[in-house]
Amino acid sequence: MNKPTLRGLDLESHLRDPARKQAYVTTMFDIIAPRYDQFTRWFSYGMDRSWKRGLIDAVVSRIPADARIVDLACGTGDIAFSLGSRLPGAIIVGVDAAPEMVVQAQRSLARRPSDRISFQVGDMMSLPFADGSQDAVTIGYGLRNVPDFHGALREIVRVLKPGGVVACLDFARPSSWLWRKLFLGYLAILGSLYGWWWHGEADVYRYIGRSIDHFVSWRALSRAMADAGLEVVLERPRLFGGVCLHVGIKKSGVRSPESGVDNKSAMIGCPTPDPGPRTPDILR
Ligand SMILES: C[S@@+](CC[C@H](N)C(=O)[O-])C[C@H]1O[C@@H](n2cnc3c(N)ncnc32)[C@H](O)[C@@H]1O
Repeated sequence: MNKPTLRGLDLESHLRDPARKQAYVTTMFDIIAPRYDQFTRWFSYGMDRSWKRGLIDAVVSRIPADARIVDLACGTGDIAFSLGSRLPGAIIVGVDAAPEMVVQAQRSLARRPSDRISFQVGDMMSLPFADGSQDAVTIGYGLRNVPDFHGALREIVRVLKPGGVVACLDFARPSSWLWRKLFLGYLAILGSLYGWWWHGEADVYRYIGRSIDHFVSWRALSRAMADAGLEVVLERPRLFGGVCLHVGIKKSGVRSPESGVDNKSAMIGCPTPDPGPRTPDILR
């Protein structure tokens, strides 16, 4: 099989065009998959670990120990594995659009086998799960990469039980003009260098800064989550709004939007339990 490459593909025009963005993004993640974990650790100076710990803590404190969880854009599976070790009875399915990422996740699973964790190739815009079947959906650096994040949020809300939790950690577009220039400029330079050095293609990591510029601010993401039918109970911006953890709860009475997929044959489904009282803890 030919090695995937971004050569000849223009980054900006693919980011602007929802119809072509996914193909670019999936190719890019297939290229970087084998070095993704190492890159993330270096590129974030280890901060990624503590941000993800925050996401895991926020989720496990809000769901039952035997929860059903989908980890979207699971990448190499680190969020799924952390959830698995914190919630010994949970059933966790990691879903990612890039087959090479799923291969990496499955390799890690083979090293620490668990019959409660699985990984599969899939598109978060059209999930193979029944309406109201999941206690939680987690998503690390995923929403920014899809062609239509509003559509992805609707799909997340569809598969969540009423009272179910979504936790999303992602980069966001800084609102301050000066900080945006500095932050995105820094990511462009460092990303291009790493891209050339590790893969011979600058754009594989230059993508990060450019995709952030095409994304929304963390406040706008909160509004989009609310519009999709979620009560946003936690907002934790970091790096002056360059990264944010959002946690939302699916409000009772929110009708599952039309998904356009046949989920009658969903792989996972179970009755809706009483979600119990929720304590809002909005941090601004
Ligand atoms: C930056 S990685 C994040 C991996 C992991 N969640 C983490 O936190 O390290 C983004 C992932 O989103 C995946 N992705 C992009 N578009 C997707 C889609 N439509 N559906 C599911 N996954 C997608 C990519 O393949 C990639 O693995």
